[in-house]
Amino acid sequence: MALTPKTHSVPLSDGNSIPLIGLGTYSNPQTTPNGTALAAVRWAIEVGYRHIDGALIYCNEDEVGQAIREKIADGTIKREDIFYCGKLWNTFHPPELVRPALEKTLQALQLDYVDLYIIEMPTAFRVRHRFCDMHRVKNLICEMSFAKLKGPVPFLKPGDSFYPQDENGRCAYHKTDLCATWAAMEACKDAGLAKSIGVSNFNKRQLELILNKPGLKHKPVANQVECHPYFTQPKLFEYCREKNIVIVGYSPLGTNRDPSWVNLECPPMLEDKLLTSIAQKYKKTTAQVCLRFNMQRGVVVVPKSSNLDRIKDNFQVFDFSLSEEEMKAIEGLNKNIRFVVLPFWADHPEYPFHEEY
Ligand code: A2P
Repeated sequence: MALTPKTHSVPLSDGNSIPLIGLGTYSNPQTTPNGTALAAVRWAIEVGYRHIDGALIYCNEDEVGQAIREKIADGTIKREDIFYCGKLWNTFHPPELVRPALEKTLQALQLDYVDLYIIEMPTAFRVRHRFCDMHRVKNLICEMSFAKLKGPVPFLKPGDSFYPQDENGRCAYHKTDLCATWAAMEACKDAGLAKSIGVSNFNKRQLELILNKPGLKHKPVANQVECHPYFTQPKLFEYCREKNIVIVGYSPLGTNRDPSWVNLECPPMLEDKLLTSIAQKYKKTTAQVCLRFNMQRGVVVVPKSSNLDRIKDNFQVFDFSLSEEEMKAIEGLNKNIRFVVLPFWADHPEYPFHEEY
């Protein structure tokens, strides 16, 4: 099927479908001016995006929701035209916290349901903590995140944090029971609060844990993982294809190269010679070639931008296509190095990136 600005969705295993391109909305809550996500999502919907990727932890779901609701109110879209993906953060893995966390997302968005709700990471954190030293978490969002969440969070208490720490200033982990968390996710789908449910940053073993869960009711429809020409995920891609799990590729442009969280050993992808030469051939940008590469292989992309020109550019990926040889050549760029390594959680028992895939 030819991909067009209006028809570029792929089916999910539960009968729903997901647009192959969405707008990523993460930017550092501590440094991003208020209103940034509001403007970006408004522009994106005007340009033609129908898929928005967000999360409670991004601390801007209120703005994202406001933009979506404004565009519904002015007649640009109907609610059913928009696909919103939200994410369950690490501190909310205990089954009794899953639905309240999703309800907090819905309250921020002021929407009745999300189209996709995914477990953001397989690494559970303790929700309660006794000690949090702000100086030790300079590069992590801590209490600030809560301050930015508008409105009360009924199940959170003063001092709770998205990044809880123990007495030694180390991240306070929680014993994960991914299957119990998954059962609570299934209940959210059954309650109609999430049309589809999935996971993110899960490796093959963790996906199998869910797929082999006794009494499994709903399979994960998607696994959101890093995916781009420098990290093509060949094995996980094949495994997910076999299991009918759509891959949603985050950092499809190679991140913002912020040294506080990005592995800069991986060179800047948008300066790659091959990608640049293919882009020149089609009079496109390297970013557009990166996005088109993933979309053509059925990988959903969620490029983040809060710049109007780049939001527009990233959606101009429907007026050219890459040949089979070009797809193969781009696949050959795979370096098997992640931009997003999350080394600070590498000692978590469920840290997903120790295994090959
Ligand atoms: P900005 O928000 O100023 O546009 P990724 O989605 O891989 O995480 O990449 C996001 C980063 O890439 C952001 O820093 C974003 O900055 C930048 N970006 C987004 N679109 C483009 C583009 N078309 N060309 C170059 N950089 C881009």
